[in-house]
Amino acid sequence: MSVDGKHEGLLVWQEEPFNAEPPLDLLRENFVTPTELFFARNHAPFPAVDPSQYRLSIGGLVERALSLSLEEIREQFPRRTQLVTLQCAGNRRQELMEVAPIPGEVSWGLAAVSNAEWAGVALRDLLLAAGIAEEGRHVAFLGLDEVEKHGERFGFGGSIPLRKALEAEVLLAYEMNGAPLSPAHGYPLRAVVPGYIGARSVKWLSEITVQRKPSSNYYQAHAYKLFPPHVTQETVDWERGLMLGELPVNAVICHPREGEPVPAGPVRVQGYAITGGNRTVERVDLSLDGGETWQVAELAGDALPGAWRFWEATVMLPAGETQVLARAWDSSANTQPEQVAPLWNFKGYANNAWHRVMVTVSPT
Ligand code: MTE
Repeated sequence: MSVDGKHEGLLVWQEEPFNAEPPLDLLRENFVTPTELFFARNHAPFPAVDPSQYRLSIGGLVERALSLSLEEIREQFPRRTQLVTLQCAGNRRQELMEVAPIPGEVSWGLAAVSNAEWAGVALRDLLLAAGIAEEGRHVAFLGLDEVEKHGERFGFGGSIPLRKALEAEVLLAYEMNGAPLSPAHGYPLRAVVPGYIGARSVKWLSEITVQRKPSSNYYQAHAYKLFPPHVTQETVDWERGLMLGELPVNAVICHPREGEPVPAGPVRVQGYAITGGNRTVERVDLSLDGGETWQVAELAGDALPGAWRFWEATVMLPAGETQVLARAWDSSANTQPEQVAPLWNFKGYANNAWHRVMVTVSPT
């Protein structure tokens, strides 16, 4: 176990900073991911935070700047709990890396995504207590960790539009799955932004700033932007990228695994699906013939904005190899692109191509 409280079976891509994802079969066992299995994405070592010294500042375009201790946050604002799935913008990067190399980025498989029950206060309540000035349009977050990049040291940051920040479901969480946040997941306080790329859920939160423009932090102004396939690290004009925010719709097959031999007869196919904003996953289709015909999977549980949805289906596979395809549809009738290659981008974000798994049925 390389990090306190984390499961020994995690696939650790990097020890420092700690970047790890759970094995896909374990991920699919629980709708609410146990904290020990929850993926971890970090750009710097975890900061050591003394809770007695900790303060959260709220400033910028506000009527009253605030500086709050943990106790004040807990006592002065109502507690809210919320199921929220976090997904890294780099989830499924490995498939993009098979199209063309993406140097310097973590080769996330299919599990840079996890679901937890978060408890804390609504960001909205703190913003309303501070009073938002008329010109405020974006809410920027800054973490206490120290990233070193291009000879500079700075905290990880990012922002969300004010209209998102005012939704009651956007939390400043102090608990995850019924326990105080662990150091790996942002102790003592983190943002949790449902339906957005994980990067906006800033951990070890120290500053909130209401401003006219999105955050100028490296992780908002440079990284986590989407570029067309012809743009490279050498030719990029950072100003021209699409700033990632809401997650795209996506479905992943968790069982069976690529190359996994299964016995002849009915095969249970299981997976997760997710979408962004306040949209919900409404349908998942499977195809066994390259997308000519589709079978509709059963969805588990309710359609919850901000949370993933588990799905399963029984398919009849012939002996030999069959490629199983999955695609999801959301409540805006968005679905997934067929091929991964046209989605390639040099940072390796937002892969939501049809998921394809080659399954081998042993002859009877
Ligand atoms: N917050 C800080 N302060 N530093 C970070 O490196 N990583 C972000 C986000 N918040 C990060 C951060 C990214 S890219 C993701 S995907 C999520 O945290 C991951 O959250 P987790 O590690 O709790 O799974």
